Amino acid sequence: MSILQLAQKRHSPRAFNGTPLAWEDLANGFETARLSSSSYNNQPWRFVVALRGEAGFNALLATANPSNRTWMKDAGAIVGVMSSKILQKTGEKDHAAMLGVGMAVGAMELAFVESGLASMQAGGFDRKAFVELLQLPDHISPLSLLAVGRLPDGQGHTVKDRMAMEDIAFKVGDKIR
Ligand SMILES: Cc1cc2nc3c(=O)[nH]c(=O)nc-3n(C[C@H](O)[C@H](O)[C@H](O)COP(=O)(O)O)c2cc1C
Repeated sequence: MSILQLAQKRHSPRAFNGTPLAWEDLANGFETARLSSSSYNNQPWRFVVALRGEAGFNALLATANPSNRTWMKDAGAIVGVMSSKILQKTGEKDHAAMLGVGMAVGAMELAFVESGLASMQAGGFDRKAFVELLQLPDHISPLSLLAVGRLPDGQGHTVKDRMAMEDIAFKVGDKIR
């Protein structure tokens, strides 16, 4: 599949079929994220991985908002997505940290589609509980929970609700809205 075809197929399913996943199932996605570009090559992405059946799975699931828990509970793995807010070489603030993590996760999600998996991010979770669970140092910031899994039978991708191209891509001199 081309990148465009992977992007067309990727969607946030809000339903998984409960199949457990192994690290090997996720490896294509994680390796793709690892190779992502970042400002100063700072590689601000940090991930904590919990496979279905591991104690960490229920611990991460418990940090999700109740509405997100209803579908996340059937994922094959939950990935906690974090950013390192400082430049490793200097200790200064990495102003592009969230952008870098977003790029890595975006690439990871397309690679999951290529691997026959579906994934969905949730920003609705208890960040304080997440920080306490993982005993995160101050420079590591929680961003989302990423659920990965296999779709229930017959469930495919949905029609995309997106803005038109002219509402997102402009020429210099256009009124940007
Ligand atoms: C960073 C991020 C956080 C999100 N948080 C939630 C969430 O907490 N709950 C939810 O139901 N969907 C969440 N979503 C899913 C979005 O609603 C979804 O991506 C959007 O509607 C576009 O649909 P699509 O991913 O199927 O193309 C989140 C998506 C992203 C990228």
